Amino acid sequence: MGAALITGASAGLGAEFARQLAAKGLDLVLVARRREKLNEVKQEIENSYPNISVSIIEGDLSQPETPQIIAEQISAQGIELHYLVNNAGASGPRLLQDQDMGWRPHHEYLTLMMTSIAELCHRLVPTMAAAGYGRVINVTSVSGRIARAGDSHYGPAKAYVIALSEALALTVKAQGVNVSALCPGFTHTDFHATAGMNEIKQSTPSMLWYSAEEVVREGIAGVEKGKAIVVSGRLYRWLDPLMQSVWTRWLFKGRGLPASSSD
Ligand SMILES: NC(=O)c1ccc[n+]([C@@H]2O[C@H](COP(=O)([O-])OP(=O)(O)OC[C@H]3O[C@@H](n4cnc5c(N)ncnc54)[C@H](OP(=O)(O)O)[C@@H]3O)[C@@H](O)[C@H]2O)c1
Repeated sequence: MGAALITGASAGLGAEFARQLAAKGLDLVLVARRREKLNEVKQEIENSYPNISVSIIEGDLSQPETPQIIAEQISAQGIELHYLVNNAGASGPRLLQDQDMGWRPHHEYLTLMMTSIAELCHRLVPTMAAAGYGRVINVTSVSGRIARAGDSHYGPAKAYVIALSEALALTVKAQGVNVSALCPGFTHTDFHATAGMNEIKQSTPSMLWYSAEEVVREGIAGVEKGKAIVVSGRLYRWLDPLMQSVWTRWLFKGRGLPASSSD
């Protein structure tokens, strides 16, 4: 069996993808910035699945050279990729309010959230298509399904990745490559704590929160079925058609789901 490349594998959804894809028998290539956290995930997988090979690439996907370095290492090691999971992501700066830092952190944020994903697809999907088999999961968000006041970086970046995934799915399906945009809602991971947004957990109903285990399980099932958009969580699947409706869009213009940032 081939291997799975998972970005953002040092925590949360990425670490869970590592567990569930190792359970399917895939070797793993894990990418993130924190080597010690990646080593913990590697150790856990190797203890549970001694026959699975796990390698680590320490890399910062907000830096433009990183996707090329990753692709070169995959090629140099002769790894045959069956799964590409573009999962790394973060809450990020506020487009209008965060001025003191200048444009550079904003540019790096957009590199992490959009350009790195497009470049990894550009470098790795053609090989999958030539081999006649591949699975690509781009982790986006329900935030990418509707515009909200105060969310001018995260939601729009996720909307791009949804559009990219839909177009790629149409382009390479006939060559045996399934591409999905996985759209979770609120999920129990480190995401909100890292962004200093712990209060969101207290201020939102628990029914809106799902486990990483469930989100990843639905993501893998969705890409295996060839679904281009996988909205995860029963409640969000119910809400999604409403969010796409012109009749309910006005509701979200000034309020709606809590914004991940306010700008
Ligand atoms: N949790 C939610 O409620 C939720 C909802 C919808 C969508 N999502 C999406 O799910 C994905 C995974 O997030 P999560 O919830 O699992 O959050 P998390 O627990 O904070 O994990 C984020 C992962 O992304 C990695 N990462 C962040 N910046 C990076 C960079 N510059 N270069 C390389 N790796 C980087 C982190 O690793 P290092 O820090 O070690 O680099 C970490 O492994 C994200 O794309 C997020 O937008 C999350």
